[in-house]
Amino acid sequence: MALRNLLYASLVAPALAVKLYVSSYSGNVTTFELTPGVGAASLKTLSVSTECGGVPTWLDLQGSDLYCVDEGWLTPNASVNTLKVSPDGSLKRTSKVDTIQGPVSDQTYNKGKAVALAHYGGGAISTFTISATGAWSPLEQFVFNTPPGPRPEQESSHVHEAIIDPTGEYLFFPDLGADVVRIYKIDSATSKLTEQPSIKSDPASGPRHAVFWTPSKKPVYGAKPSTYLFVIHELANKITSYKVNYAATGLSFTRVQDIGLYGTTAPPNGTRAAEIAVSPDNKFIISSNRNATIFSLANPDPKNATKIPSDSLTTFTPSDDGKLKFVNLAPSGGSFPRFFSLNKDGSMVAVGNQNSGSLYVWARDAKTGRFGERLAVVENLGGVNNIVWDERN
Ligand SMILES: *[C@@H]1O[C@H](CO)[C@@H](O)[C@H](O)[C@H]1NC(C)=O
Ligand SMILES: *[C@@H]1O[C@H](CO)[C@@H](O)[C@H](O)[C@H]1NC(C)=O
Ligand SMILES: *[C@@H]1O[C@H](CO)[C@@H](O)[C@H](O)[C@H]1NC(C)=O
Ligand SMILES: *[C@@H]1O[C@H](CO)[C@@H](O)[C@H](O)[C@H]1NC(C)=O
Ligand SMILES: *[C@@H]1O[C@H](CO)[C@@H](O)[C@H](O)[C@H]1NC(C)=O
Repeated sequence: MALRNLLYASLVAPALAVKLYVSSYSGNVTTFELTPGVGAASLKTLSVSTECGGVPTWLDLQGSDLYCVDEGWLTPNASVNTLKVSPDGSLKRTSKVDTIQGPVSDQTYNKGKAVALAHYGGGAISTFTISATGAWSPLEQFVFNTPPGPRPEQESSHVHEAIIDPTGEYLFFPDLGADVVRIYKIDSATSKLTEQPSIKSDPASGPRHAVFWTPSKKPVYGAKPSTYLFVIHELANKITSYKVNYAATGLSFTRVQDIGLYGTTAPPNGTRAAEIAVSPDNKFIISSNRNATIFSLANPDPKNATKIPSDSLTTFTPSDDGKLKFVNLAPSGGSFPRFFSLNKDGSMVAVGNQNSGSLYVWARDAKTGRFGERLAVVENLGGVNNIVWDERN
């Protein structure tokens, strides 16, 4: 009997359940428990929090503190809310700080002592120090009064993301409205920022998000490994790669390549690039395309014959010279994949389809980078906009 139970258990035991925190413009931040497995996967709601203000837009898990950014359309000021995560998945707000309008992304820096916010609506960057309990206190504000750019979306500065470079010494902020990537040097003694020369994108291209990438190959003795920056442009629908040159006097950049997001296919009218990510094994770059439903999928409800029009995700492979090579397009599961996130081993991708209000979890072959089965779907979530995997056990 014991042996039989053991065998049975080893054959059917589901992989360990993990949690997903999902924010939505509905005002909800939902904790899901995902039990993976093809055909047997499930996403169970563990809790729903409405303590991140009216417009949750970005999540950042640091230890057991989930920083939740409220974009603030419904209130005079926006806010950032620290939600303490309990083992049962419930979220309890432990602090809140008001900010200038329209924050859409945060980045911790200076060994977790400080954090920067990118303000899309407010056309600004603001910084905060973080206390031992996870509460934020205002430090600095930089507000940009840039003249209108060529596109209607560029009527003023729209800072879209905050990211830190691999040395931890600089913060980068793509500004969609101003066609620049803003750069600041971090003072480790005070966490204050000093402005550096920006990277200028092509006019009307709309830099939105970016990732850093370093080839995994061992660097030559004595030389710093090459570092590349891949900037995704929402309006031009391309990724521009830059080599980042570090010198005692500061940074400089060599433009390496511009690549479209649809391979040899002409980009569909109206397409709008959104997210970019590096796979956990460092071998793939993945991005998302909104407002161009090039795929049609079977309905998650087997009794419903209506097909689901789907936008796409693009996979690339980076090479050591910082150039990207197009691999393929895969369906996101619905309309407007504003955000997606890979789990720790790259075997699953969770996608938030904002306009469909759906969360899709796709299987992914981490070796080939190819997307596989649809593992789990939740619908009617409103404007899904961020997803964080919690695989701490
Ligand atoms: C609230 O918003 C106003 C207008 O954008 C801004 O001047 C002020 O600094 C904000 N307050 C805080 C605490 O960020
Ligand atoms: C895209 O828009 C252009 C200009 O409006 C039009 O000529 C072209 O046919 C459109 N292409 C597609 C694939 O709809
Ligand atoms: C979506 O694409 C259509 C053309 O296919 C365009 O008219 C519309 O403005 C686009 N929407 C957004 C939000 O870009
Ligand atoms: C079938 O699916 C479509 C697309 O998701 C949806 O709009 C429709 O309400 C569904 N019909 C039923 C009967 O559930
Ligand atoms: C938000 O959460 C509330 C409470 O659980 C629920 O009734 C509502 O349907 C949710 N809305 C969306 C859009 O998910």
